[in-house]
Amino acid sequence: MQADAGTSGRARSVDLREDIPHSARMYDYYLGGKDNYAADREAAEQALAVFPHLRTYARQNRAFLHRAVRYLAAEAGVRQFVDVGTGIPTSPNLHEIAQRVAPDARIVYVDNDPIVLVHARALLTGTPQGRTV
Ligand SMILES: C[S@@+](CC[C@H](N)C(=O)[O-])C[C@H]1O[C@@H](n2cnc3c(N)ncnc32)[C@H](O)[C@@H]1O
Repeated sequence: MQADAGTSGRARSVDLREDIPHSARMYDYYLGGKDNYAADREAAEQALAVFPHLRTYARQNRAFLHRAVRYLAAEAGVRQFVDVGTGIPTSPNLHEIAQRVAPDARIVYVDNDPIVLVHARALLTGTPQGRTV
């Protein structure tokens, strides 16, 4: 499947290569997400056969992200976040946690993988008061 990703507003076509396992989609699978394909699930299951705790690591990692962002937005008053190495958005994602506490929070997601950008464009929407890019 071809999809558009872009840099500085210039769209370019990205082949999602659904037939080849992709690390961010495998991570999405560990988290119970729906943005993964058969090749990702098969590779993820092979990895789980060797490292059975991978799913737990991924979920604990997300739980830490949720706790940390909730604390920063609610207790520390932080209103601007940069999430480097975003991965495929999984709900709730950073902007949802932060904007639940502070609707005016502004979030910049950064990832160097154009496939992640395609998924992010389809999935990321923030509050009208805040900003999510
Ligand atoms: C396992 S995901 C992490 C997702 C999320 N941050 C979390 O903690 O649940 C790692 C992401 O980092 C991205 N990544 C790896 N190296 C990077 C780099 N040098 N700059 C930006 N993103 C990077 C990958 O493309 C992938 O989407």
